[in-house]
Amino acid sequence: MEDQVEEVKRKTDIVGLIGQYVVLKKIGRHHKGLCPFHSEKTPSFMVNEEMGLYKCFGCGAGGDSIKFLMEIEGIDFREALERLAGKAGVKLVARKFDVGGDKQKLLEVMELAARYYHWLLTESKSGEEARKYLVDRKINTKLIETFNLGFSLSGWDNLMSYLIKKKGYSEEILEKAGLISKRSGGGYYDKFRGRIMFPLQDSGGKVVGFTGRILPSLAKEGEPKYLNSPETVIYHKGRMLYGFYQARQAIRERKRAVLVEGQMDMISSFGAGVTETVAVGGTSLTDEQVELLARLASIIYLSLDADDAGTTAIKRSAELAEKRGLEIKVVQIEGGKDPDEIARKSPGKWNEMVESAVEVYEFVMKRSLAKNDVTTVSGMRKVTEEVLPIFMKIENSVIKEVWTKKLAEKLGVESAVVKSEMERVKLGKDTRGQYSQNKVEEVAVDNKMEKLAKRLVGGLLIRPEAKKKIKSWMKDIIPLGASGKALHWVLECDEVSPAKQAELAPSELKGLINDAFMAEGEDETTEGDVWGLAVQLIRESIREKRKLLIGDLKKAREEKDELKEESLSRELSSLDREENKIMLLLG
Ligand code: GTP
Ligand code: MN
Repeated sequence: MEDQVEEVKRKTDIVGLIGQYVVLKKIGRHHKGLCPFHSEKTPSFMVNEEMGLYKCFGCGAGGDSIKFLMEIEGIDFREALERLAGKAGVKLVARKFDVGGDKQKLLEVMELAARYYHWLLTESKSGEEARKYLVDRKINTKLIETFNLGFSLSGWDNLMSYLIKKKGYSEEILEKAGLISKRSGGGYYDKFRGRIMFPLQDSGGKVVGFTGRILPSLAKEGEPKYLNSPETVIYHKGRMLYGFYQARQAIRERKRAVLVEGQMDMISSFGAGVTETVAVGGTSLTDEQVELLARLASIIYLSLDADDAGTTAIKRSAELAEKRGLEIKVVQIEGGKDPDEIARKSPGKWNEMVESAVEVYEFVMKRSLAKNDVTTVSGMRKVTEEVLPIFMKIENSVIKEVWTKKLAEKLGVESAVVKSEMERVKLGKDTRGQYSQNKVEEVAVDNKMEKLAKRLVGGLLIRPEAKKKIKSWMKDIIPLGASGKALHWVLECDEVSPAKQAELAPSELKGLINDAFMAEGEDETTEGDVWGLAVQLIRESIREKRKLLIGDLKKAREEKDELKEESLSRELSSLDREENKIMLLLG
């Protein structure tokens, strides 16, 4: 299996693969383009053909061809591997005891169930009422086909007898698929009965689960209106967005996604031409779902119920969006209960409503102001508590300033007051406020040395001929930390090909070594450049040592410890000599 993964990676043209999603330009040893994982105007996304890797220096995304496909398509490792293997002409042999075997079976059974439900809805006599229900809800044949909708009969074992007696599957596999449940007295029964069936598809279109809406005439006391598949080896709720498979193309093209609550909202919105719509499906919005959308879209339009859960989702997605440079807008629902009702009554109106969505910060502020009376002290406090934590996280300081001003205006105070309150809230939460000046300086030096060491690693990968000389210079000056370790390793490595060196590196250093290579290789780095880096690193290390020595020397003088003073002075002058030597090297 391990070998096969390597084979697939080797046979995959990573530039060709990524080129399907990103416009790439060849520069030096790399291909460069705008990162598809965050929004940017100047390219910081690099692809290295030789090593089969990509890396974004803006957002940190990076990896091999399999990782790329997983991320961009929102699929799992196995799925990505299979797709690439298919293209590269590698036949994957399933591992023994592999859950992959089970997964395959589950996918098969889900596909058959979906077809069975679809047939019942569209062609059977017993599907007549369900058909009428959908016609009443303005779900036409085209939508039924696009979303592969179905119907489950109201009996206890219709699906079971079809899949077991007719198709030969076992109860065990149907249970694993979440299609049947155990009876308390033994035996099984169909989980979905008398429901309009919505297949849940992964981003490749495979059915991994179902949601079923009860047909009103068949509703029984105590039965939920909507019923969902349980989590299985093929279905992970946190990653699912209903309609993503159908909406993906539009999301990519329009660079935005509209997020609604329910399956019916999604389908109606799609039918009204807002084809970039997806639904969360009654669960709370997860970070994974936002990330999935953020890969293809630069604006997310939230059109969730304005209840507490919806508001929490709005706040959380605003925060996540800030981190990823995403824009969040909020669609305010008016003139109907939910997007489904509005889109069904008037597709044009729904489109307009989406277009007139407001910025999330505006929404949060207005909502809080509408709820609280800011002429009272407690009202003002409530607004500050609700709004400030959200405004505080705005990374762009210009935008932050704009919103701070707006809030101050609404509260009738100076904006400096709002700012100082923000500072207070921030400090109250920041436990690292105790950091001494000293500590900060130390960290900064470390970072400088670490950065230089990392650059030197990159340089040495490209110019291995510089290793011998640099090794003789550096001896005991190699810094601590991960970059230092990587530098040590690279200096000792006899390989000359960059790819081979990265491949041979200990696993904990691989990431760093790959990054270093990607960062350094853009222009043709000469051997002289690499020497220069080494010299800079040595000087930096000397500077650091001198600082420590001078500190100790001062202390020795204060304590009148003459012996110590003398030995420290000697050390200091030998350090000076060392530095002079280095300067000569540079000259
Ligand atoms: P319709 O009545 O068919 O228009 O559905 P709706 O989408 O308007 O339903 P509602 O606003 O009541 O609920 C919003 C979403 O929450 C639904 O689309 C479902 O995804 C989910 N939901 C609603 N009721 C239930 C339930 O009883 N159980 C579960 N698990 N989810 C539900
Ligand atoms: Mn509804």
